[in-house]
Amino acid sequence: MKLIILMIAAYLLGSIPNGVWIGKAFFNIDIRQHGSENIGTTNTYRVLGTTAGTIVMILDISKGTVAALLPIIFHVSLFSDNLSKLIFGILAVIGHTFSIFDRFRGGKAVATSAGMLLAYNPYLFLLAVVSIVIMISIFSMVSLGSMFTFTLITVVSFLTGDRVLTPLALLLTIFVFYRHRQNIVRIKNGTEGLVPFGLNYWH
Ligand code: G3P
Repeated sequence: MKLIILMIAAYLLGSIPNGVWIGKAFFNIDIRQHGSENIGTTNTYRVLGTTAGTIVMILDISKGTVAALLPIIFHVSLFSDNLSKLIFGILAVIGHTFSIFDRFRGGKAVATSAGMLLAYNPYLFLLAVVSIVIMISIFSMVSLGSMFTFTLITVVSFLTGDRVLTPLALLLTIFVFYRHRQNIVRIKNGTEGLVPFGLNYWH
């Protein structure tokens, strides 16, 4: 019973659409009607500015981290601590992308997955941060940086023999590419929105 309640809690936590609620509460703006219409960090920066974007990034990352740590905090285990972290983290990612508070729509899984990774392996999280910062510094596109970084984490977890993370990272990467399908079309057409940072923006 405790396990089921915690799993539901992880999903509900992930479901919280921080970008939407902050936009509505403090700016009277629904970010789903502006910019890329995504509810995530990037579109919050784009539509509501740096402060709101930073807060949403921290909150969306935290959803994944806290959910992944729920089984550790409350001493329930599914097979192993590591697998438990990933299962609970994924429940938060499912909540973020199919939110009960947003008619089962949601974001692109980037920040909440990163939060799960932070709970699972902080070194891989750091690698992901370095990767996305470098990609944004070159291409000025968060979408491209996100897709590259998920691919990189999958490859690294495979090369390091992490049998728990590798299959999940692969599935997540495929899902993240699917969620970014409109971004991919825009990248191909040269119309993807640039963030005001990095070589591609400044050149
Ligand atoms: O935050 C997700 C990012 O990878 C892309 O977001 O709003 O540019 O589609 P967006």
